[in-house]
Amino acid sequence: MVSQYPTVLVTGAAGFIGAAVAEALMARGQPVIGIDSMNDYYPVSLKEARRDRLVARFGNLFTFCKLDFADMEATLAALAPHDFGAIVHLGAQAGVRYSLENPQAYVASNLAGHVNMLEIARARQVGHMVYASSSSVYGGNEKLPFAVEDRADHPVSLYAATKKADELMSETYAHLFRIPLTGLRFFTVYGPWGRPDMAMWKFTERMLSGRPIDVYNHGEMQRDFTYIDDIVGGVLACLDRPPADDGQAKAGGSVKPHALYNIGNNRSERLMRLIEVLEDACGVKAELNLLPMQPGDVPATYANIDALTRDTGYAPTTPIEIGVPRFVEWYRGYVGA
Ligand SMILES: NC(=O)c1ccc[n+]([C@@H]2O[C@H](COP(=O)([O-])OP(=O)(O)OC[C@H]3O[C@@H](n4cnc5c(N)ncnc54)[C@H](O)[C@@H]3O)[C@@H](O)[C@H]2O)c1
Repeated sequence: MVSQYPTVLVTGAAGFIGAAVAEALMARGQPVIGIDSMNDYYPVSLKEARRDRLVARFGNLFTFCKLDFADMEATLAALAPHDFGAIVHLGAQAGVRYSLENPQAYVASNLAGHVNMLEIARARQVGHMVYASSSSVYGGNEKLPFAVEDRADHPVSLYAATKKADELMSETYAHLFRIPLTGLRFFTVYGPWGRPDMAMWKFTERMLSGRPIDVYNHGEMQRDFTYIDDIVGGVLACLDRPPADDGQAKAGGSVKPHALYNIGNNRSERLMRLIEVLEDACGVKAELNLLPMQPGDVPATYANIDALTRDTGYAPTTPIEIGVPRFVEWYRGYVGA
């Protein structure tokens, strides 16, 4: 499908998912304005490498602004010269555990920053804003798989609470200003150019350097691991299909132009199975440091993706047996391991 929006504003464009989405948009010919604060939550060198790769490959199709979108004045000034027809808002303070240490970073980027992006969507009358939510909004829900119709009112971390708040604030903007909005609840995304604060990276790094890996809840965890290419396909499929302002109920229950979807792999893997697959990919037997559950974490995630499949044709194709070796191969090249 050819998109109806020529230029797309992508926030968090030097982040893991943002850089991959920006790449896919430009690969199909759409100019991207990318913004990112380049904060040091994890090594800035990785964010710079993602950004530089986009600049090298796409030249003038890519405009990058180093910018903190929690600062409304600076954001308005930086965006003033640019036209864009849609927004993919992926910039945020991510990470469950860090939200126990630095809650203010989440308040600034995920609450103030989200309102700022909604205000920009409103001022520019964009055709659609797709934004990132998270599977963490389901908290400790025990009914698996998680469906967008399930209640998600009992978050167990501030990170999750800010993501749920983003969904609620978005609903009011869809109601008051009829801005087409789509919230995507991502489930544990992994793959090349991934995030160093996530288990996949940490396990690989430690296994390849002969160190033990920290395994929480004594390994009694399961996650719906979703490969980055599947995620990118889903984000673009959503972007191309803004929810209609027709009074009909959307995925997630809104009767405003606001849809909410799970975007996962539709299968949940035991953590110990992931470790086996990583052992094969790394050619190393993992030494396990079994630990109790961490505060703020949830034992299981598993996405029911029926709504997204029904509305967009989303069909993830990458099991961990394929995606994990691809990540490990990329990791070895990136760090020179
Ligand atoms: N990766 C996952 O498994 C996962 C799971 C659930 C939800 N999410 C959500 O998806 C989105 C993208 O995640 P990611 O994995 O790419 O994370 P990431 O940390 O790699 O990317 C986020 C980017 O946003 C930037 N950023 C943060 N605050 C900013 C601000 N105030 N102004 C400008 N830029 C800012 C960061 O510098 C970073 O580059 C986030 O909203 C995250 O919460 C990700």
